[in-house]
Amino acid sequence: MCGIVGCILKDNKKVAPILLNCISKLEYRGYDSVGIATIDDKINIKKDKGEINQVNKKLNLADMEGNLGIAHVRWATHGDPNKTNSHPQFDENKTVAVVHNGIIENYLDIKTQLEKEGHKFISQTDTEVIPHLIEKYMDKGLDLEDSLRETINIIEGSYAIAAISVNEPDKIVATRKDSPLIVGIGDNGYYVASDSPAILEYANNIIYPDENELVILNSSEIIIKDKNDNIIDKEIQTLDWTPEMAEKEGYDYFMIKEINEQSKAIQNTLTEKINIKKIIDDIDDINRICFVACGTSYHASLTGKYLIESFAGISTDVILASEFKYFANTLDDKTLVIFISQSGETADTLKALDKANETSKTLGIVNVAGSAVTRKADYVIHTQAGPEIGVAATKTYLSQLTAIYIFAGLLSSNNSLLEKIDRVPEFIDEVLLDVNSIIEMSKKYKFVNDFFFIGRGYSYPIALEGALKLKEITYIHGEGYAAGELKHGPLALIDEGIPVVVINPPGDDHKKTMNNLKEVKARGADVLAVGSSSDKMLIEEADDVFTINPEVDQVIAPLVYIIPLQILAYYVAIERGLNPDKPKNLAKCVTVE
Ligand code: AGP
Repeated sequence: MCGIVGCILKDNKKVAPILLNCISKLEYRGYDSVGIATIDDKINIKKDKGEINQVNKKLNLADMEGNLGIAHVRWATHGDPNKTNSHPQFDENKTVAVVHNGIIENYLDIKTQLEKEGHKFISQTDTEVIPHLIEKYMDKGLDLEDSLRETINIIEGSYAIAAISVNEPDKIVATRKDSPLIVGIGDNGYYVASDSPAILEYANNIIYPDENELVILNSSEIIIKDKNDNIIDKEIQTLDWTPEMAEKEGYDYFMIKEINEQSKAIQNTLTEKINIKKIIDDIDDINRICFVACGTSYHASLTGKYLIESFAGISTDVILASEFKYFANTLDDKTLVIFISQSGETADTLKALDKANETSKTLGIVNVAGSAVTRKADYVIHTQAGPEIGVAATKTYLSQLTAIYIFAGLLSSNNSLLEKIDRVPEFIDEVLLDVNSIIEMSKKYKFVNDFFFIGRGYSYPIALEGALKLKEITYIHGEGYAAGELKHGPLALIDEGIPVVVINPPGDDHKKTMNNLKEVKARGADVLAVGSSSDKMLIEEADDVFTINPEVDQVIAPLVYIIPLQILAYYVAIERGLNPDKPKNLAKCVTVE
């Protein structure tokens, strides 16, 4: 949800090419518009609606003077995606320019007041009040830093802000609340950014500012101050991600690269076993577990419920983060609340985590080191998927599942479950070796309007995730159902030629799911089944089959059977001429509620 970058170089080189490169790495956060502001003897601004490549072709964004500047990619909340609403936003005299990620909830009141005082607004954004407030305080004689401090006393909502002023042309000031911001220390200069992929190429020593701390960058130092103007000594952490990890490395899109990295991501996450064991030893007195997450992370949580209830016998709930407050009254200090989030910055999840911290022990399962969930939760499991750039979660999902399987295996001291997980990377490599049949199927299904996915037990979350992947990147309506639920309503939607994906691994649920397959077939559905290569009955009944070999039972199926569904979604998107990395209206990191 919007990405911001700021950079000040130690020498007098042009910063614009670096800002352009950094902001391009954040395009997964928003792609409605892009803009850059630099300072030489004045503030220079280039910005427009559109993806970075298009805007750059038109405006040549790298060609701007000045060794310091700020940049922005937008995911529109207030105001259409157009040039005026693009960031950087500025005051009427262009003395101050600001980039912002978040939402200023009281902007209308502030705007009304500022208009009475003579300020003129030109955009529909909430952000525009920020440069006007900073300008107002600078006019009263405050410096840029104190003006930003006054401004954050007035604005309400969520924000990561970077601001520059022509009156102090050697400085960037930045701050954050409920939106991510990191500070990077590079050999060539200093950086602020929404997320680490932006600056990996230039800086891997990172500082994580806390809420409402002020970050002041000039060409010779970084100063971080608290609200009361005291300088704070912050810990510097070193990132273990490399710039190459955030590149396509020969693949057409990040999504397909990330699908192909899944066995590695699982292998790396398996190294968390020792940490997970320590966490379990420490939280020995719990009698209930509650998962909280959104989207794909919610689907990983659902698998967690099946695992923990069947293997450890501990009552487990799964709650959508945006609905959490309605359930929070039932929590107590014997409940472990597990927050799953690849980004660690999802606003709904963070709100719920704050609430859960009041009563219960909290555990975060997170992919991005240093993100807000890692700082707020009592315990943290780091999924080791590396940076995920495609908006559709793939390798982070499998890493989350891996962490949950290890957690359930250790919690229930079930060695056989743990041993099975160790073999999953090998199964995935096997599946990825031959996906031609799925690629062919994507041609057949590219023009359909609706898709259904069904599965029972452990395969039910696979059905939900398969449907989410499809709708997210192909814009085809997809619904996942528990196979046994079809007859309670959705069966009315099944008709001649409607594709139904039946997920049916070997196990107790196999027979009943076969019955459901026959029910939809009898009503004309086009059945695409995913099952074992030795499953003769399934192969015979289905119109199309993707077979999994070697045999994977229904408990482990979520880690393997999702792969063909990710690939199906990817190639249907390609067939439809869509960019799977940048689905419309979505962004990688959802920092608004
Ligand atoms: C997944 O493909 C989606 N992009 C989305 O549902 C995502 O899983 C959700 O927004 C949660 O994100 P998080 O894991 O970063 O908290």
